[in-house]
Amino acid sequence: MCGIVGYIGQDDTKEILLNGLEKLEYRGYDSAGIATLNDAGVQVVKVKGRIAALRESVDNSVHATMGIGHTRWATHGVPSEENAHPHQSASGRFTLVHNGVIENYQELKEKYLRDVHFASETDTEVIVQLIEKLFAETNNTAAAFRKAMSLLKGSYAIGMIDHEHHDTLYVAKNKSPLLVGLGDGFNVVASDAMATLKVTDQYVEIHDREVVLVHRRYIEIQDLNGNSIMREPYTAQIDANDIEKGTYSHFMLKEIDEQPFVMRKIINEYQTENNELKMDTGVRQAMNSCDRIYIIAAGTSYHAGLVGKEFIEKLANIPVEVHIASEFSYNTPLLSEKPLFIFISQSGETADSRAVLVKIKEMGHPALTITNVPGSTLSREADYTLNLYAGPEIAVASTKAYTAQIAVLAILAVDTAKTKGLSLDFDPMRELAIVANAMEVLTDQKEAIEDLARKYLRTARNAFFIGRSIDYHVCLEAALKLKEISYIQAEGFAGGELKHGTIALIEEGTPVIALATQKNVNYSIRGNVQEVVARGANDMVISMKGLEQDTDAFVIPHVHELLTPLVSVVPLQLLSYYAALHRDCDVDKPRNLAKSVTVE
Ligand code: F6R
Repeated sequence: MCGIVGYIGQDDTKEILLNGLEKLEYRGYDSAGIATLNDAGVQVVKVKGRIAALRESVDNSVHATMGIGHTRWATHGVPSEENAHPHQSASGRFTLVHNGVIENYQELKEKYLRDVHFASETDTEVIVQLIEKLFAETNNTAAAFRKAMSLLKGSYAIGMIDHEHHDTLYVAKNKSPLLVGLGDGFNVVASDAMATLKVTDQYVEIHDREVVLVHRRYIEIQDLNGNSIMREPYTAQIDANDIEKGTYSHFMLKEIDEQPFVMRKIINEYQTENNELKMDTGVRQAMNSCDRIYIIAAGTSYHAGLVGKEFIEKLANIPVEVHIASEFSYNTPLLSEKPLFIFISQSGETADSRAVLVKIKEMGHPALTITNVPGSTLSREADYTLNLYAGPEIAVASTKAYTAQIAVLAILAVDTAKTKGLSLDFDPMRELAIVANAMEVLTDQKEAIEDLARKYLRTARNAFFIGRSIDYHVCLEAALKLKEISYIQAEGFAGGELKHGTIALIEEGTPVIALATQKNVNYSIRGNVQEVVARGANDMVISMKGLEQDTDAFVIPHVHELLTPLVSVVPLQLLSYYAALHRDCDVDKPRNLAKSVTVE
């Protein structure tokens, strides 16, 4: 969470910084700020609120060719102008932006900064004040910067300006993402290449506990002792069009619509020219030599993991446990003899999942990451990576990454079954192609789903999703989607479980949305619907072709029973989207959230 951007070059920096921050806004949007440096000194502009507000506050008459910017998701200190970044040292010489959490900031304050007056409540201000303190001892900014970094515990991606140095941006990284982009006569710094793709596609990866002195024509990467490190740049593989909304009013709607394309992309990427499944041999070996799989994930990715468990157990015959990352870290279950850990993460940066990865690597266990961002932390630190090929997901609410995760898990399960020599009556590529077509049918029915959202959810206080078996996992995801973007209190329940307590909440008009896509539980889920209807619920049944009844609100096309989550979730994503829209909510940037959750 939080995004940083920096520029040093020949052009005016304001637009580059603001544009970069707009692309990083998915990382946090409580407050924002920029600092620019020119002959008149440093100009800092900060606001509580969005980048749009920052843009309005920036003085367009100020011209500067270097600067840093920040968009914040508050951890220490409420969202306010004082707590917004950049932060400055007491003398005003050093100005700094930071993404991450400094765990020992209180200790550092006590030990080095007792006499310093702090202007904010943030852990970040400790860093910049510490650098000023250390500078007083050495009179060397780079040395003070490196020394300060060596004293920090926690995560950080930092950009700093020394107002006496008009030729250097000081940059450092530990655990938080950071890239340096190379240009002709300029260089940039960003939490994510998306922020600066407009100006360059050449990037250099920065590793943990490295600092970089970024100049206009070259960069110097160093370790914390000042030793130089050489590293070649790579070309970012992101299409600039993928990060624009185009004609869509929201990224979420665009990303829902992209799902059929993502399914087809996954089919292509995981298939050889001879139509065989394509899978990394290391992954194959790991899947075949483990005695139990532990899936670790958070939020929507956890919900995809629940569906993945069904595939791996039913098709590949390997027992699977699915764990919420933040719980696993501090309450580790008894492990089997030969565990394999699978981390599912759209961003590949989720701190809760990374904490588990670090722990299980220390224990010597193998790890596979399934992610949309191949160079991300979880991808780099695991033994193997499977890519989702979903393209950048910008809306905070995850949609296409969820379905991509499920599709890749289905392919992984079938590939493992085949390598084990198990006989299967399931061709995943053929079935996924059918899914892609079904998704297209559904994304063409937006008006019908918008009507349902208006009818059931526009003024609802709460809503329940019920389903049995694999439908239950989709209900959990549907409830999360609805609550995070429309702020309706929503819960997903196993159909049979409602009567064991929660049915007490059903009142006249309470929306209950039921999924009926599984033949073996069709009869029982319909019984559960009758139970809530008898108590006044406003029921909406979404069923699959072949299992439908006349009174059902919506029928999805028929697909393989195991793959129904890929299809049944589409009307539910759209339902949440339209509910949020009709309740005047900020669909792409719901309150209190951020896309990439890099704090525990
Ligand atoms: C909800 C959502 C979150 C993420 C969760 C994990 O729409 O997007 O619940 O799924 O924060 O993020 P990743 O998948 O990046 O690890």
